[in-house]
Amino acid sequence: MLRLIPILFCFVIAIGAASPAKAAEGEHPPHLHWSFQGMFGSYDKAALQRGYKVYSQVCAACHSMDRVYYRNLTALGYSEAEVKAIAAGFTVTDGPNDEGDMFERPARPSDHMVNPFPNKEAAVYANNGAFPPDMSLLAKARHGGANYIFGVMTGYEEPPVDAELLPGQYWNRYMPGHVIAMAPPLSDGMVSYEDGSPETVAQYASDVAHFLSWASEPTLESRKRTGFKALLFLLVFAGVMYATKKKIWANAH
Ligand code: HEC
Repeated sequence: MLRLIPILFCFVIAIGAASPAKAAEGEHPPHLHWSFQGMFGSYDKAALQRGYKVYSQVCAACHSMDRVYYRNLTALGYSEAEVKAIAAGFTVTDGPNDEGDMFERPARPSDHMVNPFPNKEAAVYANNGAFPPDMSLLAKARHGGANYIFGVMTGYEEPPVDAELLPGQYWNRYMPGHVIAMAPPLSDGMVSYEDGSPETVAQYASDVAHFLSWASEPTLESRKRTGFKALLFLLVFAGVMYATKKKIWANAH
């Protein structure tokens, strides 16, 4: 028993040492109910379309999504013609042409989403020295996923009195370290919805988090379907095996 004391002592010290690091993390974001959770979960196409609208009208000014192609947007319920029209609203640099010059043309469904900045340096320069991360995989890359994105969108607060913020920095409850170099991007009424959904920060935040979850895992639905079929197969197979075993051993005493 006595030998346990130094071990317990180390334990207490280790916990004590871990606490300041914990304080520097963001708080756990609120847990929302997402339609894509659970074994039969799937994306809500109306939420995806609203989320894309929020992304393209607000976030796309700073955050790229260059692993997503305009043609992928058919998964949100848009027709091919609608996707073509969406893409054509953006301009990309292509080339070189026969004379060796780069030229601009309307984007096509086969292009990836247009990057707001020509390179990382330009993005950092335009954002006070902070880099707005590419959003293609953000929901997968961050602990908490959609809840984290929702949390950051809705977690802006007055900083505590002893916090020292530089110009361009804000206090956010759910950002790791609490300090974020992004001004609150959303405000009530800034994006208009045609389907009557509330035009509020909370609704925009949940829609854009839904959309970003789809972007980071577009095959979630087929993965779940395959998983379910595999489970069903295993269940039936187990039944058949059990019956076979009973039959084979029926006469053995
Ligand atoms: C004016 C430019 C700008 C706009 C518009 C903008 N952001 Fe940001 N965002 C940034 C910058 C810069 C950072 C990096 C902040 C940092 O590192 O402190 C950032 C960081 C983030 C983070 C935290 C990323 C991480 O590393 O965990 C999230 C989440 C985020 N943005 C979501 C959004 C969403 C969603 C929108 C649209 C509703 C949006 N942003 C609009 C500039 C912008």
